[in-house]
Amino acid sequence: MNNDLRRYRQQEALRLMLSETHLHPSHFIYPLFIEEGKSIKKPVPSMPGIFRYSLDMIHEEIEELLAMNIRTVLLFGIPRNKDEEGSNTWSDDGIVQQSLRYLKKHYPELFLITDVCFCEYTTHGHCGIIHEGHLHHEKTLENLRRQAISHASHGADMLAPSGMIDGMVAAIREALNNSGFRHLPIMSYAVKYASSFYGPFREAANSMPQFGNRKSYQMNPANKREALLEAWADVSQGADILMVKPALPYLDVIHLLREKTALPIAAYQVSGEYAMIKAAAQQQWIDEKQAMIESLLSIKRAGADIIITYFAKDIVKILQDENI
Ligand code: PBG
Repeated sequence: MNNDLRRYRQQEALRLMLSETHLHPSHFIYPLFIEEGKSIKKPVPSMPGIFRYSLDMIHEEIEELLAMNIRTVLLFGIPRNKDEEGSNTWSDDGIVQQSLRYLKKHYPELFLITDVCFCEYTTHGHCGIIHEGHLHHEKTLENLRRQAISHASHGADMLAPSGMIDGMVAAIREALNNSGFRHLPIMSYAVKYASSFYGPFREAANSMPQFGNRKSYQMNPANKREALLEAWADVSQGADILMVKPALPYLDVIHLLREKTALPIAAYQVSGEYAMIKAAAQQQWIDEKQAMIESLLSIKRAGADIIITYFAKDIVKILQDENI
């Protein structure tokens, strides 16, 4: 038995040779915030380096992404007007529909994933139809079907329903199949926790709930077995990829899904995870590059195939010169 494990680590060449986990540019998805309007490039204060763009300004961001070979983006729309139902989400002139048309036309090499939800589009900020203070299940599913068909028909390459509404994957799958979109994959936010780490996103996307919270539909951070129930439910409804969100506080859950299902696993390193690393680094309390790499490696090591992260550009830049 080798009791001198240092021998593995003394020289860089051997350390690299023995690395069990690797990061590759094609594993990353970059989230994009697109705001209805003109000439907008607004920094998100709690997320240094992240901006909200209007479509007429988005080219600089897209060209940067394509130049570094990042082709997959997750679109979040910020509409000019909200209403009770979030009707912008299925309108032909909705911000996501406009974005899909524009990006497909000008950048056909992009792979466009849409977040399928209502919270950025409703006046109350909840993820569906509110009836007598509660989320109305059937009406919410009905509107999810409309939104999904609309995204598909305007050019989405994959749909990512994020509302944690029971039955959402089955409803969307059926709607897509009945409308000629059997080929479109669904990446379900299958295991999404009611997390404080979404704070900066809600500032970025104007999606703070105006009353209450999302604890009645998002998961309790204390629970792990329940994550399996959520995952199996989505598998049985036809999900193609399962997502766990947030990532770093839930590595055990990523690992569990990796062990117990055969589907590809995506992990979302959310806004608060990004903000924490950025903020500590700005204070020079941690090394940003090393903390970023370590966090991404641990998400991979836990079993994620795909990582959605606001660090996508930073890490891919590093991977151009270094093997990790
Ligand atoms: C819902 C959605 C949210 C995020 C992604 N999709 C917000 C929420 O559930 O409140 C959060 C992502 C992040 O924090 O980076 N449309």
